[in-house]
Amino acid sequence: GVPPGMATLADYEAAARAHLEPEIWRHIQEGSGAERSLAENRASFARWGFLPRALADLRGGSTELSLFGRRHAAPLLLAPMAYQRLAHPEGELAVVRAATALETGMVVSTLASVTIEEIAAAGRDAAAALDRPVPPLWFQLYLQPDRQDSLALVRRAEAAGYEAIVLTVDAAIKPAGLTLPAEVDAVNLAGMRRIRQTATPGTSGIILGTALADAAPRWADLEWLRSETRLPVLLKGMLLGEDAARAVDLGADGLIVSNHGGRVLDGLPSALDMLDAVSAATGGRVPLLMDGGVRTGSDVVKALALGASAVLVGRPQMHALAVAGMAGVAHAIHMLRTELEATMAQLGCARLDAIGPDRLWRFEQHAR
Ligand code: FNR
Repeated sequence: GVPPGMATLADYEAAARAHLEPEIWRHIQEGSGAERSLAENRASFARWGFLPRALADLRGGSTELSLFGRRHAAPLLLAPMAYQRLAHPEGELAVVRAATALETGMVVSTLASVTIEEIAAAGRDAAAALDRPVPPLWFQLYLQPDRQDSLALVRRAEAAGYEAIVLTVDAAIKPAGLTLPAEVDAVNLAGMRRIRQTATPGTSGIILGTALADAAPRWADLEWLRSETRLPVLLKGMLLGEDAARAVDLGADGLIVSNHGGRVLDGLPSALDMLDAVSAATGGRVPLLMDGGVRTGSDVVKALALGASAVLVGRPQMHALAVAGMAGVAHAIHMLRTELEATMAQLGCARLDAIGPDRLWRFEQHAR
């Protein structure tokens, strides 16, 4: 069960620290550099307030939406998180059961610590036991140094019933911080050649000119992936309108605007601050999702008002997992959905399409 006193995601975050080894806690929480981008992810939500409409008709309301032809109970998905067994022995299996119970989509990481197939099977079993639909599972792809390995991952995801591929494009050059405990591993990459930072003869670079930089995804890789699968392909880690428009031109079916939780280049703006420009550049051609700093239902409403179709949450999964396993993750999703509905009701929005920029105001502009 869930321990007493957990009323917000922040309560799980505070409680999680005592459940995790210090280096694992640091690994989950940290941002890169001086953590300016990490701080922006929260600060950018705090800059917005609400303008409710009085006496709105709330009858028949709902938070439902459809993405790629699939019903989602709320505009909220679980972001891909590497190695969820760092937070709880059941790891991804606990998360997919919680996602099933709450009819919430889950994006499974290439670096999951349970196999693609076991996660899908646990989702199906939970759906049968709870009399719920099978949850929408998407597979997050980190391109591997050998294309046949990337393709093998995509084929496994397709065969296991995953419904979209999320290509993460912002994290190829990211120093690996944590030494994994012996029992936690990227089990889906067993037998594959891993990227090593070994200099190419004749170059003097430390990162540039090594296999690491040479293996970073390029635009041609998006075109290749698009041609290889019939599943929707989303790009995760876009922040600029120009890149977003190019991705859509090349066949991307959706975008996840993200600065990777402030863990890559420090100094990036928050996804929330870039949503408007990405939305203008893509003109509603594909669904825009965002992540980074979403911790309350009112954050979800702000992201939707600024152009997102849905949001993803990252670190809170690990916090809730560490504190209470599956029950914790299910409770965290339930709280977010309750807060989302309360915020919508108080704003006078019975449905998601009623949430627009006219429901927000910016704090600085109204300061005395
Ligand atoms: C991540 N993120 C991530 N992204 C991805 O595409 N593949 C991955 O394997 C991981 N792994 C991962 C591990 C940990 C510990 C963190 C904190 C983040 C990024 C993640 O999907 C998401 O973009 C951010 O975490 C969103 O920000 P919040 O919700 O954590 O503020």
